[in-house]
Amino acid sequence: MRLANKVALITGAGAGMGSAAALMFASEGAAIAAVDIDETAATQTARRIVGQGGHAIAIRADVAQAADVREMFARTVKELGRLDIVYNNAAIIEEKTELANFDDDDFDRVIGVNLRGVYLGMKYALPHLIAAGGGSIINTGSIAGLISFRGSPAYTAAKAGVVALTKVAGLQWAKHNIRVNAICPGPVFTPMAEGIHRRMTGRQLRPTSKMPMSASGRMGTAEEIARVALFLASDDSSYINATPITVDGGFGV
Ligand SMILES: NC(=O)c1ccc[n+]([C@@H]2O[C@H](COP(=O)([O-])OP(=O)(O)OC[C@H]3O[C@@H](n4cnc5c(N)ncnc54)[C@H](O)[C@@H]3O)[C@@H](O)[C@H]2O)c1
Repeated sequence: MRLANKVALITGAGAGMGSAAALMFASEGAAIAAVDIDETAATQTARRIVGQGGHAIAIRADVAQAADVREMFARTVKELGRLDIVYNNAAIIEEKTELANFDDDDFDRVIGVNLRGVYLGMKYALPHLIAAGGGSIINTGSIAGLISFRGSPAYTAAKAGVVALTKVAGLQWAKHNIRVNAICPGPVFTPMAEGIHRRMTGRQLRPTSKMPMSASGRMGTAEEIARVALFLASDDSSYINATPITVDGGFGV
């Protein structure tokens, strides 16, 4: 068990990669705080973990709201006893948009969840991680933040910001025995990817859909990302800090 006696809080745990990581971390011995803005989805993930013999609680929180973020950590420590691992994974994406026509409120909304949410999820985790003697923070970037997505200005900017914040926090908090890293996924078959595909093409995305820009020719699975998150959460990655890890099967033009 690679996460025995650890407590992990995962945001966006109600679907996609967050849900896959919650189940995988739990199977490696961690108690899980499954956080999502969608309380029903968070509860479903927590129930699946408990059904498989694990330990989990569900928490409804909007990661863009400081009060919610403070409370999600306070509840985790109160109900699960400590905090060792934080996976800031929740995010949203805007409709495909030309920068010139971008609605200003939509820009703030995406930056609010995807960048401010990660900032809050690190800042308010810190005292609890110090109290535990250290820990691991994993933030979710995207290849969008590395190579940029033409149709997603706020998403791309936020994800580039996540990588920058990850580096700063990793440098500042190494003295507390806290490692901070980011996973930058390529296309992964999740509800988010299905939604984007449906809006852009009017067609349903399938797990087997071909990805011409991916050297592997396919999308990743949520479990393939969760395995990297597990590596970063565990002591197997003890000398990895302040860095983005791209998990995209080889992506480019
Ligand atoms: N799917 C992809 O192809 C892809 C590629 C690169 C990066 N990513 C990133 O990976 C992460 C996970 O993506 P996914 O595809 O699993 O997404 P998803 O949409 O399938 O799941 C995201 C979950 O986050 C929750 N959420 C949304 N806003 C929230 C908020 N304000 N507070 C709390 N929870 C909130 C949703 O309810 C949902 O359960 C995201 O950071 C995303 O940007 C996804």
